[in-house]
Parts: sequence; structure tokens; C-alpha cells
Amino acid sequence: MELRPAISAGTMVISMVFLLISTTHAHNITRILAKHPEFSTFNHYLTLTHLAPEINQKTTITVCAVDNAAMNDILAKHPSINTIKNMLSVHVLLDYFGAKKIHQIRDGSALAATMFQATGSAPGSAGFVNITDLKGGKVGFAAKDNDGTFPSHFVKSVEEIPYNISVIQISGILPSEAAEAPTPGPSALNLTGILSAHGCKVFADTLLASSDAEKTFQDSLDGGLTVFCPLDDAMKAFLPKYKNLTAAGKVALLEYHGVPVYQSMSMLKSNNGLMNTLATDGARKFDFTVQNDGEEVTLKTTIVTAKITGTLFDEQPVGIYTINKVLMPKELFKAEAPTPAPAPAPEEAADSPKPSKKKSKKAPSPDTEDSDSPAESPDDDPADQTADDDNGAVRFDGGRFGLLAFGLSVLLGFSLL
Ligand SMILES: *[C@@H]1O[C@H](CO)[C@@H](O)[C@H](O)[C@H]1NC(C)=O
Ligand SMILES: *[C@@H]1O[C@H](CO)[C@@H](O)[C@H](O)[C@H]1NC(C)=O
Ligand SMILES: *[C@@H]1O[C@H](CO)[C@@H](O)[C@H](O)[C@H]1NC(C)=O
Ligand SMILES: *[C@@H]1O[C@H](CO)[C@@H](O)[C@H](O)[C@H]1NC(C)=O
Ligand SMILES: *[C@@H]1O[C@H](CO)[C@@H](O)[C@H](O)[C@H]1NC(C)=O
Repeated sequence: MELRPAISAGTMVISMVFLLISTTHAHNITRILAKHPEFSTFNHYLTLTHLAPEINQKTTITVCAVDNAAMNDILAKHPSINTIKNMLSVHVLLDYFGAKKIHQIRDGSALAATMFQATGSAPGSAGFVNITDLKGGKVGFAAKDNDGTFPSHFVKSVEEIPYNISVIQISGILPSEAAEAPTPGPSALNLTGILSAHGCKVFADTLLASSDAEKTFQDSLDGGLTVFCPLDDAMKAFLPKYKNLTAAGKVALLEYHGVPVYQSMSMLKSNNGLMNTLATDGARKFDFTVQNDGEEVTLKTTIVTAKITGTLFDEQPVGIYTINKVLMPKELFKAEAPTPAPAPAPEEAADSPKPSKKKSKKAPSPDTEDSDSPAESPDDDPADQTADDDNGAVRFDGGRFGLLAFGLSVLLGFSLL
């Protein structure tokens, strides 16, 4: 801790380096479209369907945006979020089509594979878009499984970053029977059954006893849900505190363990920052911070730092992960002094007698998913340097890796703003 002042300058430099790298190497479709309010609905649904991060990860890609009026044609039919995702993924071409290339299609046509095609759920030639030079200077766009007519045409180039991403406007949506087919939703998933069967029975039973919270989880399955379930030992020890909460507090505590978007493990490792939860009812309420440290991912409230110990279920749009502590939101719990309480007091991490703690390096715990880091050398194992961090503050005495992680998290924190 005594290194803090010296560190901040270094952190700034590192942050700036990362900032430079990130601005030159990555595109951000959300940010690009945000400059154009006529695409706000399209942009909103790219985020809601989680297509935005997939688009950002790809280079050589073309996004065929439609304006808000055209988006209403999709929404009027009230499709499920999964169907909207399929429909929009027809509008993302896995090739670079700038205005110039589009106009060079003259006298001909081209077929472009789409992100829908790449999902593997597009039968036959569905999932390709036919781009054809039509008479009168128009360039027509149609999903390959459309009826042979061109329901949409090129309007204008919105933004081009050759040859990474081209965003163009087309006049209307690209109907595709395959993409519009109702998708079997994950709502049939037996969430509490899955939890019970994999070490989170106490949490599942608590959820089942709270019909409001259970309904919130169940209703969120289709739109994308990530659940962080405390393992039985942690939840059992927490029950006295839980029983002390008001009825509304109990619901909020449970909902605090769900995040209304799908997050794969790799997304959790790369998307550090604030995360809203099912309990969030306003800006900066009932959120927590995801922070990875090497291969380890932690969830930090101002009261407690929990560690993800394993993946219980991961099928888009639902991810379920086990955590070693109950997440305690600051809205329900006051920060307590670190006392070696019998129940898992929020800040007892360093003194915890629990066998699952990483402290005992000689016996890496079996429930640690990434237990590939039993290395003794403090220089080689960044994970250990913050593993026993007990009050949400990053420990700086770990050297360069801690610094790097901190710089990165500061940067990511900024880019989230
Ligand atoms: C395009 O992407 C590549 C690879 O990510 C990157 O090196 C390059 O700087 C990007 N170009 C622009 C103009 O952003
Ligand atoms: C992309 O931009 C949006 C809006 O500016 C921002 O909220 C989001 O965090 C950015 N995503 C990434 C990966 O930087
Ligand atoms: C695109 O569609 C038109 C009209 O249906 C068809 O004539 C053309 O062959 C198609 N192009 C390709 C590359 O499939
Ligand atoms: C969910 O799974 C549990 C445990 O396997 C079972 O008892 C329960 O009946 C299931 N619920 C539904 C709705 O299928
Ligand atoms: C429950 O609440 C009472 C009264 O506020 C308090 O004295 C007690 O310590 C609490 N118990 C737990 C386990 O938090």
C-alpha cells in the first residue's frame, strides 16, 4: 500500500499506452452508430442481442444498418430476442464492402456470407446476402433465401475504416425466412434444477422460496442471463444474514446474483468494469465490478470480493458460474470492520479458514477452475498477488503484473464511461 503514490504516475503511462493501442486497433460499432440517431434502434438491438461485441471482435466486416422506421418492420412482429438476433445477423456481412466496392459490382452480383450463416443455424444458402447491381444505378440487397426480389438497396456509406469495418445504410431490412423462424428459447431451462445439481443447492432452494426473484431469473433467460451462484458452503454460512433482510432486501440480494446479459467466460476475462444486475433499479445501483487478474476473475462489491471458481453452464444466451462468496451489495450491507466472525463476514478473506482459499498454495483447491497457477514464484503468478486481497483495493506490492492489471482496469473503467 505504501507504494501507492509512486504507482499512480506509472499507471497513467500504462493507461495511456493502452489507450493508444485500443484506439488504433479496435472499432466499436456502438460508438460509430451512436453518432447517427437515425440508427438508434438498430444500435440498441445490436447491444441487446450481444451482436455488438461479436462485430467489434471481427475485422473485415460490413454492417448494413437500417434506420429506425425500417427497424419497426422487424419489431412490429414482436419476435423473440433470439429471432431478432438472427434477423440482425443477416445484416452483418463477413467481408468488407465500402461504397467503392459496392459500386464496382456493376453489371453483376456478389454473394456475401453473413454472421447468421456463421452461426450454423442457417439452412442451405440462407445466411448469404445477394448484392446485385440493379438498373438505374441502384444496388440491391437481398437475403439469398428471399423470393428473388430485392427488398432493400444501398443508400449511403455511414463510416468506413478500410479494411476493418464498413458501416453502410440500406433502405430496408433483409427478410429471411430462415432467420425469422421462431427459435427454441432457453426459457424451458430448469435453472434451479441445474444449480441444485452442481453445488449450489442452497442458493437454488433460497431462490425457489422467493417467487419474485425466481420469476425475475426465469423471465430473463430468453434475453440473455448470467448467474453467479454462491457455492453451498458460502450460501449456508450467509443464511443468518439473509434471514435478517426485509422481504424486498431478500429479493434484491438474490437478483444481485444475476446479470441481464449473457457473458461467456472469455467475455468476463476481457470485459472488466461495472456490471448491472437484475437488482439494478437506477444508475450506479446494485452493480458490482468485474475484474480479472490473469486467468482469475473476481466480482467486487465495496463489501466483498468473490472469485469465480467454475463454469456450471454455458450455452448462449445463458451462462452460470459458481462463486466462492455471497455478493453483498453496499445498498443492503454496511461495510463492516474486518473481524474474524463465525459467519463469513464480508472482509474476512485473508483470515478465512476455508479450504477453498488460494492462500494455501501448497494445496491448490479443486474447485478453482483455473488451478493452473500453483507456482510459488511471486513474479510468475499474478493471480496470487491479489488472490487474498480482502477489501476491494488492488494490492500494489505485487510488482509489474499487478500494475499492468491495474492500468488495464483503469483504462477499461474509463472506456466504459
Ligand atoms: C485494422 O485492424 C488491424 C488489426 O486489428 C489494426 O492493426 C489496424 O490498426 C486497424 N486499422 C485501423 C485503421 O483502425
Ligand atoms: C463502445 O462504445 C460504447 C458507447 O460509447 C461504450 O459504452 C462501450 O463500452 C464501448 N465498448 C468497448 C468494447 O469499448
Ligand atoms: C442474385 O440474385 C439475382 C436475382 O435473383 C440472380 O440473378 C443472381 O444470380 C444472384 N447472384 C448470385 C451471385 O447468386
Ligand atoms: C427442475 O429440476 C428439479 C431437480 O431436478 C426438479 O425437482 C423440478 O421438478 C424441475 N422443475 C421443472 C419445472 O421441471
Ligand atoms: C440481525 O439483525 C440484528 C438486529 O439488527 C442484529 O443484532 C444481528 O446481529 C443480525 N444478525 C446477523 C447474522 O446479521
